[in-house]
Amino acid sequence: MTKHPLPIPLHDFPCPLITPRLFLRSPQPSDGAALHSAAIESKKEFDAFMPWAWETNATQENSELFACQAATNWIVKKNEEPWFQYLIIEKKTQQVVGICSLHTIDWDVPCFEIGYWLRTSKTGLGFMAEAVNALTRYAFDELYAQRIEIRCDKINQKSQGVPLRLGYQLEATLVSNRILPLTGQLSDTLIFVRHDASDLPTLTVYR
Ligand SMILES: CC(C)(COP(=O)(O)OP(=O)(O)OC[C@H]1O[C@@H](n2cnc3c(N)ncnc32)[C@H](O)[C@@H]1OP(=O)(O)O)[C@@H](O)C(=O)NCCC(=O)NCCS
Repeated sequence: MTKHPLPIPLHDFPCPLITPRLFLRSPQPSDGAALHSAAIESKKEFDAFMPWAWETNATQENSELFACQAATNWIVKKNEEPWFQYLIIEKKTQQVVGICSLHTIDWDVPCFEIGYWLRTSKTGLGFMAEAVNALTRYAFDELYAQRIEIRCDKINQKSQGVPLRLGYQLEATLVSNRILPLTGQLSDTLIFVRHDASDLPTLTVYR
């Protein structure tokens, strides 16, 4: 049985989340152009690790479709792609700098997986650690999460840095369960988990 007092579609989950440097909000119609521009800049990283994210944003039209579908799913809350997507906006520049999301949701547990990407020019600034810190707190505090997973390829050092910086524990390595998109070689998936928000790096989040 779900721990949520109302059927999931009737919940008004808090949005946006505001952190010291970022503003996280649901995608809206007309966000497509900004998303597409961020994706073009990041194509190399997408090709290496997230070819599906490139497909989603390969044209401005695709990005706009994604933004509309994600906006719709904030209302209907279907348990399918695109799940709970948050656009990450840098406060200082008002630029869309990436996406983080809650997906692969089981509301009965409840448990969630967090996914993310940043536009390349905004990496190396701790933005994703800040966004995922806020999203982790939010999932435990507002969504009654019992478990949050972050999965990444064993060779994706940048991605692993995010859960490690936030005190997620390596729970498992799924050996030879994925193919590297660029080379076709077998690779491993690392699964990092948290079961509560204790000892997360200090962060003020406004909802
Ligand atoms: C994965 C990804 C989001 C990581 O971005 P990132 O900027 O390295 O992640 P963080 O926000 O945690 O920032 C950490 C970096 O910022 C630096 N930094 C600067 N200021 C910081 C601050 N205030 N707080 C934390 N880190 C800070 C850190 O030292 C670190 O730099 P380093 O990598 O040179 O050591 C990004 O590389 C990306 O989008 N990759 C392509 C898509 C992808 O692979 N997605 C994940 C699929 S599983």
